[in-house]
Amino acid sequence: MQLKITSNSAVFTKNLGKNFSKIISNGDIILFSGELGGGKTTFISGLAEGLGIRENVSSPSFTILNVYNTHRKNKLVHADFYRLENIEDIAEIGIEDYLYDNRAIVCMEWGDKIRKYIDRDCLEVEISYLLADGGNDNLDNLDRRLVTFKSFSQHWDNKLTKFMARFKYDEYFRD
Ligand SMILES: Nc1ncnc2c1ncn2[C@@H]1O[C@H](COP(=O)(O)OP(=O)(O)O)[C@@H](O)[C@H]1O
Ligand SMILES: [Mg+2]
Repeated sequence: MQLKITSNSAVFTKNLGKNFSKIISNGDIILFSGELGGGKTTFISGLAEGLGIRENVSSPSFTILNVYNTHRKNKLVHADFYRLENIEDIAEIGIEDYLYDNRAIVCMEWGDKIRKYIDRDCLEVEISYLLADGGNDNLDNLDRRLVTFKSFSQHWDNKLTKFMARFKYDEYFRD
């Protein structure tokens, strides 16, 4: 199942992440893809806020992995594989343990780079630029993004369905 939502601003995307945090649970793994500057970190910072994390979430590009504790005794693991060149390096990053940690919620930017090495069910979130037809990118639509949630399991189908019922966005596309 796929769910698509149009975002018109960074604030909207952050809020989307915050709302999305309400339906995720421990052990969930979310992979983010899409061009640089699309809004992956923005979405995750909203998600973190929704989980009650007070720290500012920014891109962990240099550290690759940041871990934030929440007040619910679980943690948000935020990884960014933008700079990952050798897949062998993944062992050193220490992400693997978190993929089997049922007290962790794992969000991975550029997660498509390591998708085939993960044997766990993941939700995929792709954020892409939405420019006007013909590439006429006037100022009005520079901030438009298409957020696509891709589920491959009953687990995530249920969650996306719950999300739609709970948060009434104007523009939902389902396929
Ligand atoms: N609709 C939108 N959603 C998310 N970010 C947006 C949007 N419109 C403009 N922006 C801007 O685009 C940038 C997104 O940055 P970031 O979240 O770090 O992207 P990524 O992590 O995908 O590289 C921010 O500067 C943000 O203010
Ligand atoms: Mg980022």
